[in-house]
Amino acid sequence: AKNVGILAMEIYFPPTCVQQEALEAHDGASKGKYTIGLGQDCMAFCTEVEDVISMSLTAVTSLLAKYKIDPKQIGRLEVGSETVIDKSKSIKTFLMQIFEKSGNTDIEGVDSTNACYGGTAALFNCVNWVESSSWDGRYGLVVCTDSAVYAEGPARPTGGAAAIAMLIGPDAPIAFESKLRGSHMSHAYDFYKPNLASEYPVVDGKLSQTCYLMALDTCYKYFCHKYEKLEGKQFSLSDAAYFVFHSPYNKLVQKSFSRLLFNDFLRNASSVDEITKEKLAPFSTLTGDESYQNRDLEKASQQASKSLYDAKVQPTTLIPKQVGNMYTASLYAAFASLIHNKHSELAGKRVILFSYGSGLTATMFSLRFHEGQHPFSLSNIASVMNVGGKLKSRHEFPPEKFVETMKLMEHRYGAKDFVTSKDCSLLSPGTYYLTEVDSMYRRFYAKK
Ligand code: ACO
Repeated sequence: AKNVGILAMEIYFPPTCVQQEALEAHDGASKGKYTIGLGQDCMAFCTEVEDVISMSLTAVTSLLAKYKIDPKQIGRLEVGSETVIDKSKSIKTFLMQIFEKSGNTDIEGVDSTNACYGGTAALFNCVNWVESSSWDGRYGLVVCTDSAVYAEGPARPTGGAAAIAMLIGPDAPIAFESKLRGSHMSHAYDFYKPNLASEYPVVDGKLSQTCYLMALDTCYKYFCHKYEKLEGKQFSLSDAAYFVFHSPYNKLVQKSFSRLLFNDFLRNASSVDEITKEKLAPFSTLTGDESYQNRDLEKASQQASKSLYDAKVQPTTLIPKQVGNMYTASLYAAFASLIHNKHSELAGKRVILFSYGSGLTATMFSLRFHEGQHPFSLSNIASVMNVGGKLKSRHEFPPEKFVETMKLMEHRYGAKDFVTSKDCSLLSPGTYYLTEVDSMYRRFYAKK
């Protein structure tokens, strides 16, 4: 199989959201802390009728319908998620309801979990399957689904929720450059979920930021090394049109991109211009550790990378800024933003993605765009996802109502024997929602 990659995409995020500006005021944070300090505009969240299973049911059903894919044509289904609803039964098995109905139970794959990285693991599994000798000619399907919620405190505004479904196969408009990959994996306690009675993570915010940036540097180093071996020349930021990052909040994405420019400067890559060299020169002797803490370096590299950021990163930031951190779906929501914004001018271009999951696992990899053929064309993917329409039809909750919802969800997490309000008035037609969890913890869903 040639040009294996993403043929089609669909995204779903809850229509319920809270404005960061309102949340900031409600939390007693200083004005601008969430909107400028974190760079976030709005945050989506699940109410008591939605969860990672309902969102993924919605995304998969919608993808199959809108691209007219017969469920029998799916041969592998992989789910990435870090939202634990069951310690044994995979989310994938819930999604099998869709396929059983059309008589297809011959589908490989289960769930992958490591914080926000599970979606990338799932994606690689599907791509590798299509490229392998066990491929049977059918499509792979990847689902990233998460509800990111934090306890009250500084991490709470960095929540979010979404599900993304991606169809995998050959001759894709979004093809993997499979040789161009650099990973970094190591043991860290930056963000983890050891308390199985709570949906909230234990998070060392400062450490998680440093872990993210160190993983980025290391992945970029390996990535550049592989590129050089393959292409016989140095890689620099000018060799890709766009850079897409796992996006816990936009400020970290800004810092990440400027960090890549700093890496180019240190490697003396050809693309770094004279002004940048001058601006970054004072920092060339810092040790790695020092460089993560140095505020002047952060400022100087952000200034130096500003116009490159606007061209190569800004078009990827819409959904993560509007919806928040979607954990496994976060990177692919940023990628979906790029397709939404630029679908008509992407053909032929290279895009670099950086996936990060705390704990920690990270990979930088490369994709190449092609025009594609209907229904698997970039313009059709953009129109199916209808990002603009979905963002516009949301309902803003006041912060008080958001906090109240979080309290109810805390109570419901891991609980049994309850029925939900079944209130689906805010959901659009075709959306799945939770109706009941019975005395045996079995979950029941309905479709609006
Ligand atoms: N106006 C403008 N900016 C402000 C204001 C203000 N009024 N007040 C604060 N800021 C800035 C700060 O200067 C800081 O920016 P900087 O990093 O450029 O200096 C930023 O807002 C955040 O403020 P801090 O006080 O540094 O951090 P805070 O205690 O609010 O915590 C954090 C932020 C660590 C991101 C927290 O929200 C968190 O723990 N989130 C979850 C962990 C996370 O997302 N980690 C990322 C990688 S791991 C993952 O994906 C889960």
